[in-house]
Amino acid sequence: MPRARITGTGSALPGKIVTNADLERMVETSDEWITTRTGIKERRIAVEGEFTSTFAVQAARRALEMAGIGPDELDLIILGTVTPDFPFPATACIIQHEIGAHNAAAFDLSAACSGFLYGLSIADNYIRGGLKKKALVIGAEVLSRIVDWSDRNTCILFGDGSGAAVLEATEGDSGILSTHIFSNGSFWETLYQPGCGSRNPGSCGRTIDERLFYIRMEGNDVFKHAVRAMEEAAFAALNANDLSASDISLFIPHQANRRIIDATGKRLGLGEDRVFVNLHHYGNTSSASIPIALDEANRAGRLKAGDIALLDAFGGGFTWGSALLRW
Ligand code: UT7
Repeated sequence: MPRARITGTGSALPGKIVTNADLERMVETSDEWITTRTGIKERRIAVEGEFTSTFAVQAARRALEMAGIGPDELDLIILGTVTPDFPFPATACIIQHEIGAHNAAAFDLSAACSGFLYGLSIADNYIRGGLKKKALVIGAEVLSRIVDWSDRNTCILFGDGSGAAVLEATEGDSGILSTHIFSNGSFWETLYQPGCGSRNPGSCGRTIDERLFYIRMEGNDVFKHAVRAMEEAAFAALNANDLSASDISLFIPHQANRRIIDATGKRLGLGEDRVFVNLHHYGNTSSASIPIALDEANRAGRLKAGDIALLDAFGGGFTWGSALLRW
């Protein structure tokens, strides 16, 4: 049976940096609070004329370049996002057009911060089943457009950007060993965007008056579930492959909060040297966070042939999941 291997990674971020000091001038907060509660120091924010597809296309091109394949060789494009360019058509179709991937089926999927891992799982299964040979999986967000910049509970957390990975069928030992995805919809109201869907359309006055187009989050609840769920997803991956945490060369978790990452790393018994962290630079970029981190780790030479890497995410829905890779 073929296996899917990641042969190229890419990422792209807005040039504009918003620091904690900048936020101190916008809401009642402090660099000290943000740093100790989240670990975030700055985030990248899209400017006028930059959209989710802007960063996704750049990340996709970089991943294709590293893989050394042309866009027309792709037969599948999956974009995880909660901030598409438009409700429809799928932003994945816009990306397909922009990069010239004429032979690919393209669609978006909505799994919040787990979007990239959900996409990886689908692409992996298409490749294992022999139905597709070369896939592009992207996570991309412009969360700054759905963040309430007057709400200190949420505006300090999020950032914009994109990461992408090219997957190719291989008969070798390296590649994606397993993926696991989970959901629990009973918590859908814990982290969501109330407006701009069919319940509260963007066109209705209530959506504007009650600020329903912004992210709402019960931070504490999300936090507690995140640590438990990420541990569950990590052990699902290890157990399915008869491996233990000591086999992990690099743990690449979703970058939401340094305390969530540290708590999960501790539960796995991993030292800091085996945990990849870049959220101090980018904040929480939702579906983009894991592929941006994967690309940075890859380009920094932190993934060597044969290394075991564990990707682990948690987000709105709730959704969560993991992917275990042999590099
Ligand atoms: O991507 C996946 C989904 N997202 C997450 O995983 C995020 C999960 N949650 C979190 O990261 C944390 O819950 C937060 C960082 C959002 C909040 O940290 P916390 O330690 O859970 O703080 P809290 O919500 O319990 O708030 C503590 C206090 C409150 O004041 P009172 O009520 O105790 O007087 C808040 O009003 O901190 C206050 N606060 C702030 N103070 C200064 C909340 N935001 C801020 C702020 N600056 N930006």
